[in-house]
Amino acid sequence: MKHVLPDLPYAIDALAPSISEETLRYHHGKHHAGYVNKLNALIEGTEYEDMSLEQIIHQSDGAIFNNAAQTFNHNFYWHSLSPTKTEPSEPLRRAIEENFGSMEVFKEKFVQAATGQFGSGWAWLVLDPHDKLIIEATSNAHTPIEHHMTPLFVCDVWEHAYYIDYRNERPKYVETFWNLINWDYASKIFEDKEHLKATTMLPLCNNPDDPMCGYIDDMTHQDTVSS
Ligand SMILES: [Fe+2]
Repeated sequence: MKHVLPDLPYAIDALAPSISEETLRYHHGKHHAGYVNKLNALIEGTEYEDMSLEQIIHQSDGAIFNNAAQTFNHNFYWHSLSPTKTEPSEPLRRAIEENFGSMEVFKEKFVQAATGQFGSGWAWLVLDPHDKLIIEATSNAHTPIEHHMTPLFVCDVWEHAYYIDYRNERPKYVETFWNLINWDYASKIFEDKEHLKATTMLPLCNNPDDPMCGYIDDMTHQDTVSS
């Protein structure tokens, strides 16, 4: 199975000037595409050839793991950004306030995790396997789905995500990211998880163009198997 580079879920200049068209051309068109192409080359003729991205992440290591995890992380990252202002749904806002005390404290902790990540990596809001909201920083290609966590949004803090627009000033980029968070997407995942808890079934993921469909199907399967 060939893995494909998903299209951006918005126009290439839709996030400008916060995140420029030039950044997206390199980040999506070179870096993300590079991970997908390397992954396809590495798995050809191996036991990983017919596995889903999530299966490869759970079963591989070394270069295959790195390129599969970076492919997943970037597929997810594009959906964490929105060209239009969004707000968390009421259930998600309530859960954040219960977990972190307030939205302001949550922001402070998230910004700290993203700016404080040493070297390349990612800062995530995730639901842990006990459905508790936590902030997770992962280094290099590592991804919370390795540990069966459910990501709601992620900030890419590899330099390639911000160097063109912000040079070495990661805190400025993280502040920009905060203002672009796609709360609609995060809220949908949160509410699908709540629905799953209540019914043991996720709503059908029936949009073939949504790169998260495979992930949501996988999440349903894991939760069905473990319940
Ligand atoms: Fe990246």
